[in-house]
This record gives sequence, C-alpha cells and structure tokens, in this order.
Amino acid sequence: MTHVAAHQPPARRGGEFELTEADFAAIAQLAYRHFGLYLTESKRSLVYSRLARRLRKHELPDFAAYVALLKGPEWENEKLDFLTALTTNTTHFFREAHHFTRLEKALLPDLIARARKRGRVRLWSAACSSGQEPYSLAMCIVRHCPEAADLDIKILATDIDPVIIAKAKAATYLPEEYESMPPDMRSECSQPRPGNYQLSSKVTRLVTFGVLNLMDELPFRGPFDAIFCRNVAIYFDKPTQARVWSKLTSVLRPGGELFIGHSERLSGEVSNCYENSGITSYRRVAGAVEPKARSLKT
Ligand SMILES: C[S@@+](CC[C@H](N)C(=O)[O-])C[C@H]1O[C@@H](n2cnc3c(N)ncnc32)[C@H](O)[C@@H]1O
Repeated sequence: MTHVAAHQPPARRGGEFELTEADFAAIAQLAYRHFGLYLTESKRSLVYSRLARRLRKHELPDFAAYVALLKGPEWENEKLDFLTALTTNTTHFFREAHHFTRLEKALLPDLIARARKRGRVRLWSAACSSGQEPYSLAMCIVRHCPEAADLDIKILATDIDPVIIAKAKAATYLPEEYESMPPDMRSECSQPRPGNYQLSSKVTRLVTFGVLNLMDELPFRGPFDAIFCRNVAIYFDKPTQARVWSKLTSVLRPGGELFIGHSERLSGEVSNCYENSGITSYRRVAGAVEPKARSLKT
C-alpha cells in the first residue's frame, strides 16, 4: 500500500490548490484499490499537476473537495478521467522491436504451421492502449501468413480505458504515429488517406478489442500462445505485479511466451514457471505448476 508518513506534517500550502497529506493518502488509496496504481510520496508533484486539471474542470476549490467527489456518487463518472490523468497511453508500432523479432523468428513458424493444419492460435495484448501493439503483432503474422484472417488465428487486445479502445478500433493513425513502422509494412498493410493512414482489414480482422481491468477476474481461460503485457506493471507495487503475473500465467499455454516492458521484472512464485527466452521475454516451462488466477480486488 502507499507509504504515508507516520507523523503527519502540516498541510502543504502554495500552488493553486491545497493538497494535504490526508488528501494525498486518500487519492493513493483509491488509485490502489480500484486500479492497482501505486502512488508513493515521490509521485506527489505528478499527482498534483495531473489532477489539478480535474479540479479546474469541476471548478473545485481544493483537493479535499476532489476527494469528496471521488468518494461520492460521482465516482462512476469520474473514475476513468482520474485513472487516465495518473497513467499514460504512450505506445508506438513495433515498440521494443526485439520482441517482434523474437515472435517472428522463434514463435510464428510453429504457430502458423499449427494454424495451417486447422489448429487454434491465440495471442493477447494486455493493456494495449491505442492499438499499435496488437496491430504490430497482426502485421508480423500477415507478413508470414497472408491468409491468416481465414485461419483460426486471433489476437485479443484489452485495456482498462474504453476511450483508448475506441481509438484502437478505428485503426486510423497520423503520419507521425507511423514513423516506427517498417516501410515494407507501411505500404503492405495500410492505405494513405487525407491526413492519416488506415490499417487494412487483413490486419484489423485479426484483432478483437475489449475493455478489461487487470485487477479484475479474467473473463476467459485462454490458453494463449503469447501474451504481451508491457509497460503497465510499472504502475503497480510488487505484490500487485506478482498477482498480475500469476493471472497471466494461468492463461498462458506451457511453451508459450510472456513479453513484458523493458523496465519490468517477473517476480513472485510464478517466476519459477518460466525460463528466460530473450530481453524481457519468458518462456513458460512445460509442466510447471499452474497458479490459480485470483481476484486482484483488495
Ligand atoms: C504505457 S501504455 C502501454 C501500451 C503498450 N502495452 C505498450 O507497451 O506500448 C499503459 C496502458 O495501460 C493501461 N492500464 C493502466 N492500468 C490498467 C489496468 N489496471 N488494467 C488494464 N490496463 C491498464 C492504460 O490505460 C494504458 O493504455
């Protein structure tokens, strides 16, 4: 849980709004309970600047009034703006390119062979933001298997934020968002339109989007052949990370691979289920004990 000083220093004044120790603790507790976000004292100025916008929006006099709003009936309407103020949706096509190289070279040959023999192949992009991650997976598949949309190959892409999921579904990106895409894929997998690019249906048809909070019980059992869960666990504390890794492992096929963000580490009991397969990629070892998925609600 969030660290709060044992003795309460006097309320901090200065700045546009007053943010007391008690306000900060209440905000940190709500962020942790509902979204697993771990806000330590070191995040105080970030919390202040990100949430000050919400206070202005609601024309509130101070953080105490915002805490009261969060704890009242307005919570349902406010919770996503609260969350998105505290996190970032930063992503881009082929981010951490070595993961896609690993997928193409080590996993896709067998997965595509299986699909061509009428087998089932499933990938999951957990915390997919505006879609560049699952569409990068889809483009890798299409490059090696142009007929993928006619086979049983599917990518599930989820995020907690329904607004970002709507953007992902639109599959329309600005030219600057295309900069990290290899040129052959740019021409192969999208059509230029006035002012932007539209990904082609041979790519988008492989991806199914949904809204999912990683703190909640998973509404599916998998098994997945690969899971990309990158650059979201950084927001969680160690116990929450361990529960998320455990949950992902429960739906990852033995022999399947888990890809995590560059500054994230596998931790907890479940790390015994894996062997390292590359830079922040882990292969689930066949026969390892399957952990039970547990609810992350505290
Ligand atoms: C920095 S983006 C990462 C996007 C992509 N995975 C990547 O690495 O480029 C983090 C995403 O995590 C999502 N997120 C934050 N908390 C979450 C939670 N509890 N459950 C699911 N998604 C969450 C945010 O909405 C955001 O889109």
